[in-house]
Amino acid sequence: MSFPEVDVVPTVAWEDGTVVMIDQRRLPHEQVFVRCRDHHEVGAAIQDMVIRGAPAIGVAAALGLALGVRNSSSESTTLRAEWDDMCAVLAASRPTAVNLFWAIERMRRRFESQVATGGEPLRTALLDEALAIQAEDVAACRRMGDLGAELLPAAARVLTHCNAGALATAGYGTALGVVRSAAREGRLEQVFADETRPYLQGARLTAWELQQDHIPVTVITDNMAGHLMARGEVNAVIVGSDRIAANGDVANKIGTYTVAVLAKEHGIPFFVVAPVSTFDLSTPTGADIPIEERPAAEVTHLAGRPITPMGVAVRHPAFDVTPHRYVTAIVCERGVARPPYTESLRALADRAP
Ligand code: MRU
Repeated sequence: MSFPEVDVVPTVAWEDGTVVMIDQRRLPHEQVFVRCRDHHEVGAAIQDMVIRGAPAIGVAAALGLALGVRNSSSESTTLRAEWDDMCAVLAASRPTAVNLFWAIERMRRRFESQVATGGEPLRTALLDEALAIQAEDVAACRRMGDLGAELLPAAARVLTHCNAGALATAGYGTALGVVRSAAREGRLEQVFADETRPYLQGARLTAWELQQDHIPVTVITDNMAGHLMARGEVNAVIVGSDRIAANGDVANKIGTYTVAVLAKEHGIPFFVVAPVSTFDLSTPTGADIPIEERPAAEVTHLAGRPITPMGVAVRHPAFDVTPHRYVTAIVCERGVARPPYTESLRALADRAP
């Protein structure tokens, strides 16, 4: 199986003309792999949370498109119509993480430049592009990890929300990449992982990933964060992101906004770690970012058992927007953006990779 060279859990891989993913719905108790045989299965895997996390779903979509073209026997005109349909299927899987649309767009550019040749050269070019997206994501995470670690206090006690780790990327992680680099440099004392209701990415995935790496991790429920901050037990917050607007407003897992406000109240730096593929500079502010609403059952049920009265009204926005005034710095693979973000994000986006 050709997973990229990383020292942490595999997220997604190309294997023998299929896309293989670790089933994140079954973690931490079972390590089961799902094999997608066509782009519809990849789209469904993203929608159903087999794979999740902004960079990871971008990589999965790119591999899904390579798979779709590999499965098609059509040539040029018919293939173009099929291609548009493949892109539409994958784009419809989840709305908030811009990395998904970024990856589809990059694959589309490669398709357009190669479609005239058709056949095996086109299939090879699209797989090469998808594998390049995957490899670049691991490299970006490692770079962000090292850049972000430099921003942390000497004995860092980090609070994180959701899972922005190896599982959410092609490997190493964004927020957890910083944690990994800081641990390697001997600057990490403790990670507090918010459990992250309702889907429990923190309790299930962040805790599992860090435990595998022997990094000290303590799970807390989301409503404990303020208490720990007030007692001086947290000295940095690090989160990932699904989409960053031009003004530095940050969309991330529901509950991130609450943590950011608490951090500001307690004078704790709030760092966002995300690759340039998460920047959406065509979206002026966070108010313009589409927020996914997920099924009510994810709120009303815990591990398949109901926890609320039958028929009660439920809201389930899966993401929120943290206004840029709460963000101390945004770390990407090209450097560290500080306020005013309208200028610093543009400068990093324009900088050569
Ligand atoms: O619903 P999810 O699990 O896909 O949400 C994931 C997050 O919100 C992550 O924090 C974000 O994608 C950054 S991952 C590097």
